[in-house]
Amino acid sequence: MEIVNTVKAVRNQVKEWKMSGLSVGFVPTMGFLHEGHQSLIQRAVEECDRVVVSIFVNPMQFGPAEDLDSYPRDLAADAKLCEETGANLVFHPDVEEMYTDSFCSFVDMNGLTKELCGKTRPIHFRGVCTVVNKLFNIVTPDKAFFGQKDAQQLAVIRRMVKDLNMDIQIVGCPIVREADGLAKSSRNTYLNEKERKAALILSKTIFLGQKLVKAGVKDAGELLRKMTVNIETEPLAKIDYVQAVSMETIENAAQIGPDVLVAMAVYIGKTRLIDNFIVEE
Ligand code: PAJ
Repeated sequence: MEIVNTVKAVRNQVKEWKMSGLSVGFVPTMGFLHEGHQSLIQRAVEECDRVVVSIFVNPMQFGPAEDLDSYPRDLAADAKLCEETGANLVFHPDVEEMYTDSFCSFVDMNGLTKELCGKTRPIHFRGVCTVVNKLFNIVTPDKAFFGQKDAQQLAVIRRMVKDLNMDIQIVGCPIVREADGLAKSSRNTYLNEKERKAALILSKTIFLGQKLVKAGVKDAGELLRKMTVNIETEPLAKIDYVQAVSMETIENAAQIGPDVLVAMAVYIGKTRLIDNFIVEE
């Protein structure tokens, strides 16, 4: 496995693979990789002949008061995980390689980005769409793999690809959790011992929501009220949102049915965590 820092090096390698008729899978990440990221790489290895992983903490998707500077990084451990999982190429550009001084072009989206995380992170999805668009143009993959952990991001990327006629198949992958239920996240490292315990309120509430839906709750208001009350039993938790929306449009859903995304963002101390489930048929 090779680690490269330049757009040119990625292009040269991918061109060579494509000339040999090999399919290319792509897993974009911000690094500090865990089993959640690993599950995407594994899936890409299963479905594609060659796999590229990008590791780039994208400044454009962080708000001014967010954790860009403290975002955890560990390239050596990331490279080891990528190699062991069967990736063929890691693209690890610096900020200057991705954004030259004169950079002034963006990919933005009107719909899908106003609710959920878009409410408190108004510039976030413009940054995500712009960098993913750039990465897609650099890697030119056949398939790209995204986690349902960031369900709104998955919906936004699917829409961008559809709206802009990108010839890339987007594969959504299930949420990978710790043994006790907490969704794996690079940001879990911010939690102290007490907060780590308190953070379990997210997954517990997701499991409660799933149980209520299975038991036949159809009214979104009723479901969200019960989930909210459950979160409020945890003194360290402060709710950002608990919402039910259409997975396709990210607009509020009044009724619970197939393809409804039930999503939450909750602060545990200073750390903002997200979790969700999608209602099945
Ligand atoms: P990052 O947070 O590093 O996540 C990279 C990918 O891993 C995303 O598709 C995310 O949904 C997935 N992922 C993270 N935790 C997961 C878990 N517990 N189970 C399954 N998948 C998980 O998302 C980003 O980076 C960035 O916004 C990016 C798309 C790279 C653009 O900068």
